[in-house]
Amino acid sequence: MKGAAYDRFGDESVLQIRDDLPEPPVGPDVVLLRAHAAGVNPVDLAIREGYLVGAYPHHFPITPGWDLSGVVEQVGPAVVDFAVGDEVFAYVRRDDVQWGTTAELVPVPQRCLAHKPQSLSFAEAGALPLAGLTAYQALAEVLDVGEGDRVLVTRASGGVGFFAVQIAVALGAHVIGTASPKNHGFVRDAGAAEVLDYSAGPIGEQLGAPVDAVFDLVGGETLADAAKQVRDPSRIVSIVDTAVLDLGGRYVFVRPDSHDLEELGRMADAGQLRVPIAKAFPLEQIADAHRLVAGGHVRGKVVVTLL
Ligand SMILES: NC(=O)c1ccc[n+]([C@@H]2O[C@H](COP(=O)([O-])OP(=O)(O)OC[C@H]3O[C@@H](n4cnc5c(N)ncnc54)[C@H](OP(=O)(O)O)[C@@H]3O)[C@@H](O)[C@H]2O)c1
Repeated sequence: MKGAAYDRFGDESVLQIRDDLPEPPVGPDVVLLRAHAAGVNPVDLAIREGYLVGAYPHHFPITPGWDLSGVVEQVGPAVVDFAVGDEVFAYVRRDDVQWGTTAELVPVPQRCLAHKPQSLSFAEAGALPLAGLTAYQALAEVLDVGEGDRVLVTRASGGVGFFAVQIAVALGAHVIGTASPKNHGFVRDAGAAEVLDYSAGPIGEQLGAPVDAVFDLVGGETLADAAKQVRDPSRIVSIVDTAVLDLGGRYVFVRPDSHDLEELGRMADAGQLRVPIAKAFPLEQIADAHRLVAGGHVRGKVVVTLL
């Protein structure tokens, strides 16, 4: 099987395109997908560098990538909701690291999968699952964002942040995003009512009034500063800094969830959720895709296309 893979941890140079990867196993509740597009997320770089060794068992060769869109090629005998030929998208975080999403064929437990929204291209649908679910689970399920809430989203121009602004707006919130000036128009296009410049001093001092909820994507001083401006500390979520627990807030780690993915698809088809593709790379250029994400200045999402 063809795909990207590495046999040791390291920088982008460990990534190889190979034709000799083993055919993936297909368990009873697993769907085998022919991959069309896979999102590139900061966690792919962290795994490639070996930073998650203490968190999951790893087995080489490792194919990078945790989300994708594709077409069902084969279904295990216990699969009921998907059939060969269905167009789907998925966030495929397993209990160990080996079978990633930047390969021709990807085995996906059915709990990680939903039908692809009709309005999104394969590239857009492949870029949405991990970052979109992170934003949705933090805002809708943990922060319980609702009508009229003032919500601060830091790092609003990145993959998670851009989805978070749109999702919070769809939930009825008044959204304040943080971004550098070059990205203010981009974040306003997502529906943010206000955009603050993160390089122009503490965000807390720039806010005109307290907020009801904080979605922190930066951590450190930014988190500590934003926390001073929230009415109820239990309505702070961070996805990057566990110090949020000491502040009385919640640390969120995105989980695979078919129902939540369907909800993202519904929002996309209803025109509430756009997927901005900063750049799409063919599989052969996956190292360049990783390098671009590592730079830390991507606006929207980076994807690797396989078909
Ligand atoms: N816990 C979880 O489940 C989970 C899930 C997903 C992601 N994450 C983590 O969340 C973080 C964000 O992920 P992502 O995919 O959204 O990242 P990303 O797309 O790579 O973020 C890039 C964006 O961040 C902006 N940025 C950088 N520093 C900033 C700052 N101090 N304030 C405001 N904006 C800033 C950049 O704009 P400029 O060009 O202006 O700098 C750029 O637009 C990563 O650390 C990732 O590992 C955690």
